[in-house]
Amino acid sequence: MKAVRIGIIGCGNISSIYFEAGSKFPILDIVACADLDIERARAQAEKYGIPHACSVEELLAKPDIELVLNLTIPSSHAEIHLKALDAGKHTYGEKPLAIELKESKQILDLAAEKGLLVGTAPDTFLGGVLQTGRKLIEDGWIGKPIAANAFLMCHGPESFHPNPDFLYQKGAGPLFDMGPYYLTALIHLMGPVKRVTGSAASFAKERMVTSEINYGRKFPVETPTHVAGVLDFQNGAIATMVMSFDVWGTRLPFIEIHGTTGSMILSDPNEFGGKVLVKRQDYTDFVEMPLTHGFTTNNRGIGLMDMAFAIREGREQRASGELGYHVLEVMHGFYIASDSGQHYQLNSVCKKPELLPLELTHQGFNILE
Ligand SMILES: NC(=O)c1ccc[n+]([C@@H]2O[C@H](COP(=O)([O-])OP(=O)(O)OC[C@H]3O[C@@H](n4cnc5c(N)ncnc54)[C@H](O)[C@@H]3O)[C@@H](O)[C@H]2O)c1
Repeated sequence: MKAVRIGIIGCGNISSIYFEAGSKFPILDIVACADLDIERARAQAEKYGIPHACSVEELLAKPDIELVLNLTIPSSHAEIHLKALDAGKHTYGEKPLAIELKESKQILDLAAEKGLLVGTAPDTFLGGVLQTGRKLIEDGWIGKPIAANAFLMCHGPESFHPNPDFLYQKGAGPLFDMGPYYLTALIHLMGPVKRVTGSAASFAKERMVTSEINYGRKFPVETPTHVAGVLDFQNGAIATMVMSFDVWGTRLPFIEIHGTTGSMILSDPNEFGGKVLVKRQDYTDFVEMPLTHGFTTNNRGIGLMDMAFAIREGREQRASGELGYHVLEVMHGFYIASDSGQHYQLNSVCKKPELLPLELTHQGFNILE
């Protein structure tokens, strides 16, 4: 199958794993890269053997590029997605799809008008743990899902990130930065959300970098740092979710799904591998299940690869803009509910993305893990 020609915009921290995906997945052919800082683009082009490092405008003007991979910061996501679509290119980006719902809707509408695909990270739900969890649910191992818990409980990234400022600005914080992993996982496992409620707060006006580099530098907090929410799913299940950068220690699991005949614990949805534990009603304790699906190492880019196949096969991709929009609306819904003191009813819906076929492990996508 002919590889999809890709131009990367945004050559920062996360870009390396995507440049590596270009050599891991033969369907992806990265032919150019761009950044506001052209030196960053040049450095990555040289390191990964990419033919062209150029400006954003030059990249968008290249007629042979079919898909733009948008790895800019969240505040630039909408601008780059819209420019890529305007230039007649499919577009896939890092999470979240965009910051505001209005601009995200513009992205989906423009793509539909032009007959182009929009995809968005996270794609960790295509990894071995979350695919296995979904398969076990579908095969009836815990009965009908009725409840779930999702917890990100930590004390924020300033202990290891020398420049965590942007992670405490609008469009980030624990909910917008980490929530997409948890929400995408929950929606993949249980389907779309009907309504949410929640409370959100921050407890300090500024925080301090504690990583070795920049230790002691203070920076402002402009977004909630502790968010507790309740989600009602369309299938009737109820989930509890807490996303926090204010917690020093916890023993809570990352994700639990409780069904009518059993319970399941899943490991970190920010990763591809880990464990799936199941306790059915007649078990004395949780047992670790064998993983049904592969892709258990850091396979960021698998969602992009699925989208490349979707373009060639004329089908929908799994890490879709529609799913990313629903996730974004849930996150906004928590804040709206917290401000208004009322439940927020979701306006959007999305389909549960299809499970990856079992036989696709390794050979189907022809990858080297
Ligand atoms: N770093 C991580 O571990 C990580 C993990 C998962 C997801 N992400 C996501 O990936 C995205 C990028 O994160 P990062 O850590 O690589 O950030 P970064 O700041 O290291 O890199 C972003 C790059 O985008 C460039 N850029 C910004 N606006 C631009 C524009 N309008 N046009 C062209 N270039 C532009 C910047 O110059 C910079 O080089 C974010 O959405 C983030 O949430 C990051």
